[in-house]
Amino acid sequence: MTHTLTLRRPDDWHLHLRDGAMLRAVLPATAAHFARAIIMPNLVPPVVTASDARAYRDRILGALPENADFTPLMTLYLTENTDPEDVAAARAEGLIHAVKLYPAGATTNSASGVSNIDRVRPVLEKMAEIGLPLCVHGEVTDPDIDIFDREAVFIERVLDPIRRATPGLRVVMEHITTRDAVDYARAQDETLAATITTHHLVINRNHILAGGIRPHYYCLPVAKRETHRQALRAAATSGEARFFLGTDSAPHTDANKLQPCGCAGCFTAPNTLSILAQVFEEEDALNQLEAFISRNGPAFYGLPVNDDTVTLEKTGAHYAAHLDTDEGPVTIFDPGFPLDWAVRA
Ligand code: NCD
Ligand code: ZN
Repeated sequence: MTHTLTLRRPDDWHLHLRDGAMLRAVLPATAAHFARAIIMPNLVPPVVTASDARAYRDRILGALPENADFTPLMTLYLTENTDPEDVAAARAEGLIHAVKLYPAGATTNSASGVSNIDRVRPVLEKMAEIGLPLCVHGEVTDPDIDIFDREAVFIERVLDPIRRATPGLRVVMEHITTRDAVDYARAQDETLAATITTHHLVINRNHILAGGIRPHYYCLPVAKRETHRQALRAAATSGEARFFLGTDSAPHTDANKLQPCGCAGCFTAPNTLSILAQVFEEEDALNQLEAFISRNGPAFYGLPVNDDTVTLEKTGAHYAAHLDTDEGPVTIFDPGFPLDWAVRA
């Protein structure tokens, strides 16, 4: 039986760090385990221009603990006013690594997102030309579409048409939650990749709703039925280059989660590696963990694999229930099972 596991240091290809006091509180958890992360731009107001991204990057670097070795990979929030030349210049200076498409109204702080995809065509064409990936929150926002169907409908109505209209555009389907998305990703060429979160490998929709409502399991896209979770586990543990980790760790204070209209998001940064090791071991796929967390993402983004390593030990792992922040406590995702694998400090 394996008792230690040494892997290339991982990266997180979809992370919410927020700003101010929340940023200072949550950043150490990610920087302790991950070398780099794709930083989501859904602040209020969002990170829309190169100069916004530069300022946000500097705030993140300023909030890093002493001796931390962590590189934020910045993104821009795509709006109908985004200037293709601003995007290209930000890419050329190495500032940004992706542009993020939020359908207007799809999720937390997405009001400035895109309503009419035709208005962002020039940006998408420029991105295809320079090889800059588009990260996509893949849910339609049409209130007539059932929330559990929004991802599958998005693929057919929005994603596939965008890709057909913009040949060569590199696209990341983010935080996929359905078998439909896994199947779609597998049928495409190497310009398409998909990230999978930690929590969607662990919970299905029953965990949110059966036997009482559990707000800390509510996130977007919402967890689907068990057959979809099984498809995600198969994809994540397959070793296939198109699938890699994007935790979508999305901290909200308990006060904002536990109310009549609570926020969407699971905060998984502190215990993600322990949970993933457990999941991969359950699937008899510990040998594919490094591909999922450390190798496939850099390959898609055209970056080198990290030089240093992280070691997991099968000694049992314990995490606090909450992270205290100056804005109030943030509940750490509870996988609902004991964790065997600890990250060596
Ligand atoms: C994210 C957040 O809180 O910013 N919430 C979530 O449930 N994942 C937004 C997002 O990525 O959809
Ligand atoms: Zn997210």
